Amino acid sequence: MPLEHIDQCKAVDAYVKQHLIPADKGLENAHTNSTKNGLPMIAVSPIQGKFVSMLTTIGSARNVLEIGTLGGYSSIWFAQAMKGRGKVTSIEVDPHHRDVAIDNLRTAGVQVPEEVDVLLGAGLDVLPKLAAEIEKGEREPFDFVFIDADWENHWNYFDFGVKLSKGKGALVYVDNTVQNMLESGIVGTNEREKDAVDLVAKVGRDDRVDAVVMQTVGAKSHDGFLLAVVK
Ligand SMILES: C[S@@+](CC[C@H](N)C(=O)[O-])C[C@H]1O[C@@H](n2cnc3c(N)ncnc32)[C@H](O)[C@@H]1O
Repeated sequence: MPLEHIDQCKAVDAYVKQHLIPADKGLENAHTNSTKNGLPMIAVSPIQGKFVSMLTTIGSARNVLEIGTLGGYSSIWFAQAMKGRGKVTSIEVDPHHRDVAIDNLRTAGVQVPEEVDVLLGAGLDVLPKLAAEIEKGEREPFDFVFIDADWENHWNYFDFGVKLSKGKGALVYVDNTVQNMLESGIVGTNEREKDAVDLVAKVGRDDRVDAVVMQTVGAKSHDGFLLAVVK
């Protein structure tokens, strides 16, 4: 995409943010405090945060699972949308990220762990424990799963997301799907990486779900997400 078009996409993002996303001290603090504490600037954009949290409202979600907390920016969006209706369980492997996230969540007025629980550990270690708790009836299954962690494991997270879901109608959202398929050469002009995980093809063969990929432009240039609904 020519540079001037990317610039226009960013201008549209800024305009939308100005008119549809009111300033929020808790969310703004999450950004500034995360930066101050050395976290990378890889949280969802404000518009993405609003969009994914609106999906939980549309679906009346009561239990959201997030894989990849970082400084809790997207967790705050989810918590605000779910206020009084449900709970977010977020998984983060880095203890420093988790500490900053808990600090940011509390500053934003979110109760930890009652409204957002941030579990420390690698996704593939924590998810089987959640599965066992659901199996034993100690935890409710999830109705919205947001995957935003290490790309190499996204297919495994997706598989767990479907297994840990409440079943029919549950949603699994995979962030950065387009960026990763382009960077790893699955689509486009880059040389294909030897270990590239073709998430979209795998999901397409998965009879448990119906899915689509939406391309996006904006503050994060050209990207997009995969959204699957459990059948
Ligand atoms: C893109 S950031 C998450 C951004 C966050 N969802 C937001 O929008 O505010 C990815 C996070 O996943 C974490 N992560 C990386 N590998 C992980 C793993 N194996 N298990 C759990 N978290 C992981 C990273 O430490 C990082 O904090």
